[in-house]
Amino acid sequence: MTIALSPSVIAPETGRDGDFAGSIIAGLREPQKRIESKWLYDAHGSHLFDRITELDEYYPTRTETGILRQRAVELRRFIREGTALVELGSGSSTKTRLLLDALPELETYVPVDISESHLRSAADRLSRDYRNLCVHPLVGDFTDEIVLPPQLQEAPKILFFPGSTIGNFTVQGATGLLTSLRGMRNVTAFVIGVDLVKSAKTLIRAYDDAEGVTADFNLNLLTRINRELGAHFELSAFHHEARWNAGRSRIEMHLVSRCAQRAHILGEQFLFSEAETIHTENSHKFTVERFAGLAADTGWHSDPMWTDPDGLFGVAVLTPGTPSQPAD
Ligand code: SAH
Ligand code: AVI
Repeated sequence: MTIALSPSVIAPETGRDGDFAGSIIAGLREPQKRIESKWLYDAHGSHLFDRITELDEYYPTRTETGILRQRAVELRRFIREGTALVELGSGSSTKTRLLLDALPELETYVPVDISESHLRSAADRLSRDYRNLCVHPLVGDFTDEIVLPPQLQEAPKILFFPGSTIGNFTVQGATGLLTSLRGMRNVTAFVIGVDLVKSAKTLIRAYDDAEGVTADFNLNLLTRINRELGAHFELSAFHHEARWNAGRSRIEMHLVSRCAQRAHILGEQFLFSEAETIHTENSHKFTVERFAGLAADTGWHSDPMWTDPDGLFGVAVLTPGTPSQPAD
């Protein structure tokens, strides 16, 4: 469930503890141990992600920012009276400013994010800087139903989903998410960032930087489990690994156990053999054609994708269309 955050209604932290514990235990029981990537984003994880976006090796943020800086003004044709901007996985809402500056007619901004304190401070900063904008943060998992404030349910909306966070979903998950967003009322455009296929070397560098910030981001999951679930993971007994899975066109992040060891979480024992991994994130890389196919299959029409001159990253502008018919 998505819980509205306003100055007077703050979602209780306790509401989501059960989700976290259940998800961690279920994932670690699987033959390939795994942790859902959304759990990377506690307050410290969100801070580490912000540092990643500034790394030389991490090309997506500066590339997408360049595309949006140049093209955002073209979104003007999707503005109607009373249009709201709804952003999924808004993080620090940095790219949002490019849209707000290019489209001053936007009256309302609804950032949706699972990382509560980070969301709240980003929303506060934005409210201070854009005095005429109504900001309605929603904290929760955007794959659950997004419940907008009643006054916004019928309002025209531009959906914004930058960063290629769509790539963090499996094909099935991405299909489900795009299909369910297609059901949102009165969407005039859906602006979505898409990371594109490139050399494995560039990709591995982006997900295993020299300074070790991405390693810290990954290992912070164990710190979070220790703190929130009373476990005693020794961080030095694991190391970060970024792998290119060519068959699935994705970078995978893993935490690799350096030795045979055991962990106890909420009374349950988990055994690790040497070199066994916990799979913590997928980051799918698309071709322009593959993404257009995904959009068409889920009921969206796509305009030609905006890309940078080196073809590193794309921003797709989708409009509601009709789902394509499966071939006979
Ligand atoms: N949009 C920003 C941040 C991307 S990082 C950018 O482009 O740089 C991904 C963001 O999505 C994080 O802020 C994280 O907390 C949020 N997030 C990840 N999975 C989520 C989920 N299932 N529901 C809600 N927020 C999620
Ligand atoms: C948020 N998401 C799109 C980032 C990515 O590139 O997959 C998260 C990330 N993981 C490691 N570095 C950045």
